[in-house]
Amino acid sequence: MIDKIREDVKNHLKPSRYRHTLGVCKLAVSLAKWYKIDLVQAETAALLHDYAKYASDLDILDTYKKHGRPISNVIRNHPNLGHGFVSAVISKDKYQVSDQVYEAILNHTFGRPGMSMLEKIIYLADSLEEGRSYEGIDEVRSLLYKDLNKALLKTCENTLLYELKRGNMIHEQTILMRNDLLEAK
Ligand SMILES: [Fe+2]
Ligand SMILES: [Fe+2]
Repeated sequence: MIDKIREDVKNHLKPSRYRHTLGVCKLAVSLAKWYKIDLVQAETAALLHDYAKYASDLDILDTYKKHGRPISNVIRNHPNLGHGFVSAVISKDKYQVSDQVYEAILNHTFGRPGMSMLEKIIYLADSLEEGRSYEGIDEVRSLLYKDLNKALLKTCENTLLYELKRGNMIHEQTILMRNDLLEAK
């Protein structure tokens, strides 16, 4: 199945998005090895996490409605940010991915409090894969194999700062994740 997914994803994504996806796979698999979680699950979630990146706003909102998923004001105003949910739904329908993989795809954009190891790894790999660069990224990368929760907190805070500086809306799940990580410290 994973070979078929790899082939489908390669055919479905534009070259630059596929390159990003391969970067996410590489980092996710490396972290999965380090933290001793299932490598196939990690690669599957990484391959499929942005599958619905090109879905139209209408299709994304329709999928939310069809599945009775509440539409927050962030999603209403920026439907494309809901591509994680649509990617997760497609992955379940098309490839019958496990619930753990489904959750990791679903939560890769905003995170959530109480994420599983797989969810954390996909969230971090998406933000820190080798093709990404932003100020302070090396500091976060250096934390990846030392303290995953610290890397997560730092990544979450970098995201919040980025959105705040631009005057963008903040998804509540990201705030709740940060509070959760601070409490667990
Ligand atoms: Fe994404
Ligand atoms: Fe991504």
